[in-house]
Amino acid sequence: MSLSESSLYEALRQVIDPDLRRDIVSAGMVKGLAWNIQDRKLSLTLQLTTPACPLKDYFREEVHRVLIPVLGDGWQIEVAFSAQTVGVSTDALPNVRNLVLVGSGKGGVGKSTISVNLAVALAHQGARTGLVDADIYGPSVPILLGLEAARPSVEEKEGKPYLVPLRKYGIEVMSIGFLVPPGQATPWRGPMASNTLRQLLLETAWGELDYLIVDMPPGTGDIQLTLAQQFRPTGAILVTTPQRVAQADVEKALTMLRMPLVQVPILGIVENMAYFWTPELPERKFLIFGEGGGSMLAQKYGVPLLAQIPLTEEVVHYSDKGIPVAMLEENPVGIAFRQLAGEVVRAIAKTLSTAA
Ligand SMILES: Nc1ncnc2c1ncn2[C@@H]1O[C@H](COP(=O)(O)OP(=O)(O)OP(=O)(O)O)[C@@H](O)[C@H]1O
Ligand SMILES: [Mg+2]
Repeated sequence: MSLSESSLYEALRQVIDPDLRRDIVSAGMVKGLAWNIQDRKLSLTLQLTTPACPLKDYFREEVHRVLIPVLGDGWQIEVAFSAQTVGVSTDALPNVRNLVLVGSGKGGVGKSTISVNLAVALAHQGARTGLVDADIYGPSVPILLGLEAARPSVEEKEGKPYLVPLRKYGIEVMSIGFLVPPGQATPWRGPMASNTLRQLLLETAWGELDYLIVDMPPGTGDIQLTLAQQFRPTGAILVTTPQRVAQADVEKALTMLRMPLVQVPILGIVENMAYFWTPELPERKFLIFGEGGGSMLAQKYGVPLLAQIPLTEEVVHYSDKGIPVAMLEENPVGIAFRQLAGEVVRAIAKTLSTAA
């Protein structure tokens, strides 16, 4: 059978991108299709919407599945990936393709833990990632990354001074905690706090970033509104715990983000401390805080439940040492955070494709 470009493209149309709900040919993802009949080799590149795409194995298998009947046996098929991260960079932060808020409404549910681990997991998957600690009152990012003693340097750009973000675990980081001595109270009042945060975001020399994750302070006040309105985030992730008492606060945050003058898309909900897990009884999930809080909220508001992260001793232990568990290859919570990163990336791609 002779091999034609059109028969190959026809076959590739059977591969569907489950997030975009389109086939990879009409979505314009197939690049550089080339083959050599003598060597029985075919190669192509799939252009993804992010280097952190969790679907690479799926696409590779699907391409093989649909091409083998056309090519016949004994062919070597090479699928490479390139990425053009989709995003909506704004005038305020032209280097940042996607600003992603991690908030809650409620204190102590794990916003900072989730932010840090999400950022590290995105970088691990190949995305250029930054993290900004928007908790002007109680910054915790310096501790979680083991950067308590670090101080950023300043560089001049076009005659203006900029803070140079610190780098650790593959991410760029900025926090008010790097500028104010640890332990010193920061009694900012409302407008001052939002201004400080604005400055921190605008006067940092961020590199080209696919994702800038924002660790939000608890609540639904000035800072949340400033960020949502002035920086046009791609979306927000809301963190909750399974208890009923956490939900009212998260619902307040959800409602605020959906207000007509705010309108930040909700990427989904993360249920943290979903159950207690210990390596001594790996089969058991101890539902110490009850069950179903995250999925109930997700259903009620029609948003995805992105992850259920267990409560483990290791998270506390490693957090205190300044090591994000997302760095640990074999750790079950580390794995859960890397899965979360994949889900967040997919939720962003979906949000942007429906907004377009
Ligand atoms: N999955 C988890 N397993 C065990 N401990 C956790 C987990 N998530 C968070 N913690 C612990 O709970 C505490 C609160 O977490 P974290 O600081 O991330 O919450 P937060 O929502 O950012 O708090 P705040 O509202 O004060 O900013 C920390 O001591 C953290 O180590
Ligand atoms: Mg916090």
